Parts: sequence; C-alpha cells; structure tokens
Amino acid sequence: MVSLRRSLLTAAFFFGSTLPTMQVGAMKSCSGESCPAQGLRQQDHVLLQFNHGLSKAPSPSAPPEGSAEVPPAPQKLTSGYEAPEGSVVAKHGQLRVQGNSMVDEHGQPVRLRGMSLFWSQWMPKFWSEDTVRWLKDDWHVTLVRAAMAVESGGYLESPATELAKMEAVVQAAIDIGIYVVVDWHDHNAEQHVPQAKEFFKHMAEKYGHYPNVMFEIFNEPVRQSWLETIKPYHETMVPVIRQYSENIIILGTRLWSQEVDVASEHPVDGTDLAYTLHFYANSHRQELRDKVKKALENGIAIFATEWGTCDASGDGGLDFAETQTWLKFFEEHNISDANWAVGDKAEACSALLPGASGSGAWATCELTASGAFVRSSLRAELQAHTAPEPCPQLRAPPPGLCSNSNEDCSKTGCCSDVGSRCFVKNDWWASCRASCTPGIDFNDPPAFRSPWSCKELKRSVNRITSFPADADAEAAAAVQPGPYKRTFDTEGRVETA
Ligand SMILES: *[C@@H]1O[C@H](CO)[C@@H](O)[C@H](O)[C@H]1NC(C)=O
Repeated sequence: MVSLRRSLLTAAFFFGSTLPTMQVGAMKSCSGESCPAQGLRQQDHVLLQFNHGLSKAPSPSAPPEGSAEVPPAPQKLTSGYEAPEGSVVAKHGQLRVQGNSMVDEHGQPVRLRGMSLFWSQWMPKFWSEDTVRWLKDDWHVTLVRAAMAVESGGYLESPATELAKMEAVVQAAIDIGIYVVVDWHDHNAEQHVPQAKEFFKHMAEKYGHYPNVMFEIFNEPVRQSWLETIKPYHETMVPVIRQYSENIIILGTRLWSQEVDVASEHPVDGTDLAYTLHFYANSHRQELRDKVKKALENGIAIFATEWGTCDASGDGGLDFAETQTWLKFFEEHNISDANWAVGDKAEACSALLPGASGSGAWATCELTASGAFVRSSLRAELQAHTAPEPCPQLRAPPPGLCSNSNEDCSKTGCCSDVGSRCFVKNDWWASCRASCTPGIDFNDPPAFRSPWSCKELKRSVNRITSFPADADAEAAAAVQPGPYKRTFDTEGRVETA
C-alpha cells in the first residue's frame, strides 16, 4: 500500500491517458467526536431583497368537489433576486428539465459541475460560507451539494442543528451565485416521511424561489422496490415542494441510485424532474453507463449528484482512467455532477487530507490524490496539480520519531503516516491505523484474531518539545528551515493557533 501522501507527491496524472488503479492507504478517520461542530455564523441577509409576499403561496381558490387529490398548481414566483454579476446563476438563471436534459432559462442545455459536502453530522466544519466560496473561487465549481444527514445522528435526532448547517450552505450559494443541491441524505427516506415533508416544506417555502436551489429528496434508496416504495415516496414529496417552487427536483433511484433504467420505465409524473445516478469508478463501469444510456433513451434526465474516484465504500483503490471515461460520458450527454466529497476523513474518496481547515484556502498539498484530480478536472486543467513538496501543515513526523504502519507503536505512541493513530490491541501489541473498532478485526490474519481494545496511545509531550512552537514557527523556519512549522496536537494533527 502506497501512502496517500506519497502518491500525491510522486504521481502526475495526465487526463485522458491510461492510468493504473492506485491503491491508497487508509488514513485517520474523522468521527463525530474528532470533527466537532463549529459555531455556524448566524446568517444575516440584508443584501437580498426579494418578494416575501410571493414566497408565501396564496391558497388557491377552493378546489371543486372531489378534486382534493389534485396537487396545487405551482406558484409563479419572481424572487427579485439578482445573482452576482458574472456568476453561473446570472448566466443560466432558472433551470428546467426538457426531455432528457437540463436546460437553462434560454433553453440551452447546461451542465453543472461541483462537489458534494461530506455528511453534515460528521463534517460540520466544511458546511461554511468560506468553504463554499473557496470551492467556487479556486475549484471553479458551479454547484455544491449539501448532503444533510438524516439517520446516524442527523436531522432525525437534531433537526435544528442540521437545518442550520443546510441553511448556511444554501445562503452561501445564493450569495455567491452558484447552484446548490439540498440533499436529504438518507437510505430509508420512506420511513421518515413526516420529517422529510416538514423539512422540504420549510426549504421550498424559504428558498424555492431562488433559481440556485435544487431539491434531492432521497439520496440513495437501497433495495426498496421502485414501484412499491421509492416512486410512491417521490409522489408524496414532489407536491410538497411544488406548493412553493418550480425548481428542479432530483429523484433517487433503486440500489444506491443506480437503477435509473428501471425508473425510466416507470417515471414519476410531473415537470422539471431529474433522476439520480451515483457511480464509484473503482466499482461501477460500462454496465452502469449502459443503464444510464437506456434511461436517457427512455427520455428521463439524469443528474449525478454523487460520484467518486474510489470504491463504492468511499474508500479503497482509485481508478482515474475509469473516472475519465465516466466524465467524458457525462460531458457528451450534458449530465451534471458532484464529486464525493469535501471532507478530511481518512479515506480514499475524501478530497482533503486529515486536518484541512473548514475555511477553505487549502494548499494543493492538503488535497488527497482524489481531491487534486477532481480539482484539476473542475478547473479544466490538462494535468492534476499535485504538490511539489510535502505540505508543511500536514507533514508527517521525521523517520524514527514515530512508528511505521507495520511496527508496534506502544513505545512511541505516535505514527509516521499522517492520518494514522496508535491503537492498542492488547498487552503485547499496538499499531498505527486509521481507525479502530473494539473487538475482533477480520482483516487480521486468522491466527491473530484476538480482540482489539482500541485504547488510543498518545505521543508523550516531551517528544515534541524539540520542534518550534507555533508562535515562533515562522521565525524559526526562516532561520533554520526545519521539518516543522507547527507543533502536533495529541491526535497527530496540527495546532493551528
Ligand atoms: C450538450 O450541450 C451543448 C451545449 O449547450 C449542446 O450543443 C449539445 O447539443 C448538448 N448535447 C446533448 C446530447 O444534449
């Protein structure tokens, strides 16, 4: 296994050339605890004047007897919103679905490209205006997807917290004039209909008259039936949004949003509907593209709200050659896409190395191999911009100070690979790994399958005193360039203040 950092330093990726599948080492996991919520700035939007009166849909005149089932007609809403000059929203305005393509307000096919944020409950630091702005300015995204967690400590548990993150990102997109996908990031949305209704009613009423906003109402159904479960869910949720908004609604499809062909045989009635396609390049290839072709031939519009350069797990090997094939295919068919993911979890599909800031301004050396590849693709560069030298902020400890991945780290309490931490198995063994789950690890060879305690060992403080403290870092580095500009914190990350 090649460490991610090393592959980032040595590999030059030429777009369009045949590239081997790269194996990328697993790195430090970001759990709920290690990615604590940042205080989200209270958004105070006095700049945008729009017609609040119209955002409240006037109740349509009483329907005739027996027509209670008919969904209310969409309200024509003119927001008065003017996207910033030169922005992508100023250029394309209100989007629609026409046949199997997404078109702009001039009727021209439009292909948006961008990034998906990582699960909101685990990576709140990236749900910031600064991150969204940086993605637009430096990554040239025209779209950001806000993957708001529903289960696993998400909206179901903390609706106000998750809603605040979503609103911060949506408002940032509106302020800077890019498109935003409001994603109900759920695998079991049909079990959370009341909550989804409440959420989408609120979002559509508050933001549905901004041309920037699109609604993705069911991220990834799994094995539920399209006809019996998924389609009826969409038929329930679409009218909730249509009460307030004509904007595009993106509909999840069966099997982690892959069976777009099945959806195309029994599409949902309505206008401005697109269907979700997700792929992971190291798992999904021509067979899945064939399903997309079939769906397009059947006349539905496809939106790739999530895709990765790695395995379907979000981790594993990277396949840039297959990724290129996919991206060419999307280009040919004007399919919009958002890459998974803006996050610094230690896994292959993360765009950022562990410890990257939630305020953007990432140096290229803070990008993973996947992040560097995708950024270059978004910027339409011919070659991925990889780091010329190790990243000072994220540089690993010098050799010998800490332990390598195959060594016992119980004496050093720290790991040479950025992103690894020293976890205890038992009295005889501790090793450097990205994460640890107590109990048997079935990746261990059969003879060594005794349980892990997963107690984490920390580097002792006196081991880092020989490196300059942050306050003196710049001066010290200027006088005597050393390996460190910053000190390590107890997690092997860096202290930034
Ligand atoms: C894709 O978009 C371009 C530019 O708007 C257009 O010329 C082309 O016909 C579109 N292709 C398809 C397959 O819709």
